[in-house]
Amino acid sequence: FRMLLIKNLRQIVQVVDDTTTEFLVGESMKNLKILSSPDCSLCIAVDKKDGKISFVGEETKIGVLPPNVETIDGKGGCALPSFVDGHTHPVFAGDRVHEFAMKLAGATYNEVQKAGGGIHFTTEKTREASEETLYRDLQRIVGRMIESGTTTIEAKSGYGLDEETEMKMLRVLDRASSSLPIEISSTFCGAHAVPRGSTEEKQRDLIVDRVIPRIAEAKEKGELRSVENIDVFCETGNFGVESTEKILRAGQSIGLTPNFHAEELTYIGGVEMGARIGSRGMSHLEEISDEGINAMAEAKSAAILLPSTAFILRLTPPPARKMIERGVIVALGSDFNPNAHCLSMPLIMSLACITLRLSMEEALVAATLNAAYSIRRGTSHGALSVGRQADLLILSSDRWENLIYQMGDHSHLISLVIKKGKIVHTRT
Ligand code: NIG
Ligand code: FE
Repeated sequence: FRMLLIKNLRQIVQVVDDTTTEFLVGESMKNLKILSSPDCSLCIAVDKKDGKISFVGEETKIGVLPPNVETIDGKGGCALPSFVDGHTHPVFAGDRVHEFAMKLAGATYNEVQKAGGGIHFTTEKTREASEETLYRDLQRIVGRMIESGTTTIEAKSGYGLDEETEMKMLRVLDRASSSLPIEISSTFCGAHAVPRGSTEEKQRDLIVDRVIPRIAEAKEKGELRSVENIDVFCETGNFGVESTEKILRAGQSIGLTPNFHAEELTYIGGVEMGARIGSRGMSHLEEISDEGINAMAEAKSAAILLPSTAFILRLTPPPARKMIERGVIVALGSDFNPNAHCLSMPLIMSLACITLRLSMEEALVAATLNAAYSIRRGTSHGALSVGRQADLLILSSDRWENLIYQMGDHSHLISLVIKKGKIVHTRT
């Protein structure tokens, strides 16, 4: 087939209709491009050669079609850009279901970690696991992400904390990015925690002097192709602002893009530093300062908000409304990890609307275009416009908002998921 044609659509939520808008901020987040047709005559055409969208609109206006067209009946449903999940930790072994009970009983995130749980527990399990086991587990998780409408993820290492295991995790992500039907922007997060028996300084030096040069070498040899970003858990008890800056700069020097955890549990000024060094994104931000908000807006640094984590840990949610009012590029992520075991972006959008007070339009922009911007894909992903990659989903519903409103029930709504013009999920 030369062309894929999805027809009989009632709504097409384009988000934007160009290839120049990299993100939406402020009031513009509310004014999505949405096409509607009561008689369901809208269609989307995809060029199968490059997987890009070649037409969006009324079927009568499409003109002459090539000889062999693969047609999909949209059955009066809605088309939306599929989701870009701006923050995930999908490679790990074991789970932490036992800790959930402790947390429900009142233990804080840091108390669990100090008691030897949290990241330390997962690190132990991940160090022991074989590359093949980690890959199989990731494959299963990715399958479920795709069913939930996600076709691109930012994905971190960070449960190795030593050279060998961090490299192992990055190789698993690399293999997944070339063999699974999801696009992965991998992130080196060797500074996810100070491993047991080490210190902040020792771990910082290990990362800067050993692991980063090793990644540079692997990148050069073409052994690691998907690693794009550098992350640090900048937090009291983990990495302070100074070590974080050193690590991020070392990453920058080998071409990695800073995108890190900041001001989640305590305010330490990580955001002000991140804005200063031009960090592409910063995540969590529950404790961000007013100056930090202004600095992020100024630096065009995306705020990747993670409503499931704040919800699970019962943290005060980040000041999302203030961020939007001041022009920060607000994005969303699932933060899928063994602490916050949620990978569903539709549920993340529902939580963002309820707990962060985003409107449904704002939540959708944050989960598509703005999340794409946070991993430097703002002009090619995250919207349904001619020339962008055909990453989309079809809802069997007359209004797209049902995906957010029918909370937690996306599996019966999402009937089809398409990545780069190929069908990657069909609801059975
Ligand atoms: O984004 N905050 C740091 N990292 C993760 C938690 C990882 C873990 O607890 O295993 C997060 O929430
Ligand atoms: Fe995280």
